[in-house]
Amino acid sequence: MSEPFSFIHLSDLHFGRIHCDILRDLEAFIERRKEEIDLAILTGDFTQRARSQEFKDAREFVSSLSCPLFIVPGNHDVPLYNLFLRFLSPYKKFMKYLGPFAQNYYEDDRLAIYGLWTVDNFSVKDGRLSSKDLRCIEERFAKVPAEKIKIVASHHPLEAMKKEHMDRVLDLDPHFFLWGHEHQSQVRSYHDDRKFPLVVASGTSTSSRTRAEVNSFNYVTVMDGGIRIEIYHHSEKKRTFEPIRVTEIPLRH
Ligand SMILES: [Fe+2]
Ligand SMILES: [Fe+2]
Repeated sequence: MSEPFSFIHLSDLHFGRIHCDILRDLEAFIERRKEEIDLAILTGDFTQRARSQEFKDAREFVSSLSCPLFIVPGNHDVPLYNLFLRFLSPYKKFMKYLGPFAQNYYEDDRLAIYGLWTVDNFSVKDGRLSSKDLRCIEERFAKVPAEKIKIVASHHPLEAMKKEHMDRVLDLDPHFFLWGHEHQSQVRSYHDDRKFPLVVASGTSTSSRTRAEVNSFNYVTVMDGGIRIEIYHHSEKKRTFEPIRVTEIPLRH
């Protein structure tokens, strides 16, 4: 029996349009569970408008987390109006402030996570995959032993990509996708007729840009023989995040 591995999946923090009280509640939650959280995965949109102060605030938050981090950028983390920067060096500020925490690959003895950078400079909202990223994930995942759990983390949903690119990622046979962007949490199978891959989407964890639901995050525990995925929603009344849906899935291996 090996120890459970747990990660918290946050997304769409949107510093610049943040609920400060909810950020405090999130920090308190993570502090309480810090002994159990092995990794924090943040799937983009750290800022509202990619302003320096927003990145500084985001950096302060992520630096305060006492667990290893895995982060990918979102469409709000590249300049929107400064077209010069947007096309020539879109990730300049993201790398300046969050670069030390950014990575696109994590692997240990139980799981492998690849982070796809999906921002499309030609679109305000839609995503894309680069040929380089696709080649890279194919090379990495080709070497991952079959018994390990393969996770693909990105800001945009896979459905926002070109069909041929989607198919190449699906051919890698991942166990699940983590994404954000839509500010709507969900856990579902990607295909109607197969359990895997699973889609695990996080809503916005701290932003006031909530759409159809309150602030949320996901908490995933990988155990021998199965995965537990909990969706946490913020409770204004209790001033904390609480689980509103738990999904337990046996592993196929
Ligand atoms: Fe967002
Ligand atoms: Fe987004």
